[in-house]
Amino acid sequence: MTTATAAPKGLEGIVAAETEMSFIDGEKGVLEYVGIAIDDLARHSCFEEVVYLLWNLKLPTVTELDAFKAELRGRYALPHGMLERIKRLPKDAEPMHVLRTLVSALGMHDPDPNAIDPKAARHKALNILGHTPTLIAMFDRHRKGEEIVHPDTSLSFAGNFLYMLNGERPTETMERAFDACMILHADHGLNNSTFTARVVISTLSDMYSAMTAAIGALRGPLHGGANEGVMHLLNDIASPKDVPARIEGMLERKEKIMGFGHRVYKAYDPRATYLKTLAKQLAEDTGNSALYEKSSAIEKVMEAKVAAKGIYPNVDFYSATTYHSIGLDLDLFTPMFAMSRVSGWAGHVLEQLADNRLYRPKAAYIGPHGVAYTPIGER
Ligand code: ACO
Repeated sequence: MTTATAAPKGLEGIVAAETEMSFIDGEKGVLEYVGIAIDDLARHSCFEEVVYLLWNLKLPTVTELDAFKAELRGRYALPHGMLERIKRLPKDAEPMHVLRTLVSALGMHDPDPNAIDPKAARHKALNILGHTPTLIAMFDRHRKGEEIVHPDTSLSFAGNFLYMLNGERPTETMERAFDACMILHADHGLNNSTFTARVVISTLSDMYSAMTAAIGALRGPLHGGANEGVMHLLNDIASPKDVPARIEGMLERKEKIMGFGHRVYKAYDPRATYLKTLAKQLAEDTGNSALYEKSSAIEKVMEAKVAAKGIYPNVDFYSATTYHSIGLDLDLFTPMFAMSRVSGWAGHVLEQLADNRLYRPKAAYIGPHGVAYTPIGER
């Protein structure tokens, strides 16, 4: 009899794929997209340029970027029949469940859904990326009983989403802030949802199935769903002075504080560094300083109590305050993560397809052997 030894729980430290898109040094708190520091990209780039970089492994020229933006803008509009689908959805459905369902449904509106040759896969990746903001914004307006706002192809990915959501063009500051959030969430090594997408496509399934599964993985509270958990916590604490007792009590009861800790980072998540500055600025600009102060107070308590264990704020912590200041409803926070991460998932799917081998690990069986079958009447 052969016995297999189990890999570390949660596959911690296991290298399960190669990627040329993002590099993480968890000890030093470094994140690079194709070798470029995330902070530089957040400050100087735009989401469209970052997606081009991830998918082509080089920064675009002006002509290439303009062409890519035009291509993406051509995908803002949904396929015929999708809006009718959205209008039939229950208004009280959770947006992440809606997004998962609608991205899956896109596959039924594609005349050739299973094609995964490089050209077709890239075409589908662009379609899903272009459609995702429209799906989320249209569902939000439908559930609020507001008139649907159709996409404006003169606007950027970030600007068009805020326009479709709110029915008015965002200010430059809001568009820029939201665009930076999209950049920061685009890709992150072999995180859980990206791994999920790669596992699904490794069966030579299809792009829609890989994206749908990734959305399902992202929504969990230990992954992308943490940003909503952060906001619930912030809403539940009346004032910054109540923070120490609340957080210390939670830690004593061994409860997790959402937005802190990371499987890979044992230093400050570099995405949180930028988001912290952004969150502070936006909170001041929009009269949400009290929220930022509560976040800051939580960070102080966590620094004193658990930073020595390598637990620092992750990307979800300050994105909660940032999204609130941008005016987004709490249950849209995780969909915002998904909207950006579609670019990373798709890039990984393209990488996986370029050098595929079926993911099929083993399980170490730890149950009994040679058990006699007991007829049902004798149990
Ligand atoms: N609050 C309090 N304690 C924590 C936290 C936290 N947020 N995170 C980890 N710890 C503690 C654990 O209680 C455990 O302590 P112990 O050794 O005394 O038992 C130790 O740190 C290790 O924690 P694990 O959960 O085993 O670490 P793991 O690598 O499996 O988890 C994870 C990483 C899931 C992100 C974890 O830190 C967590 O649950 N954080 C809160 C949820 C969150 O913010 N998720 C978003 C992650 S980023 C992203 O996906 C975009």
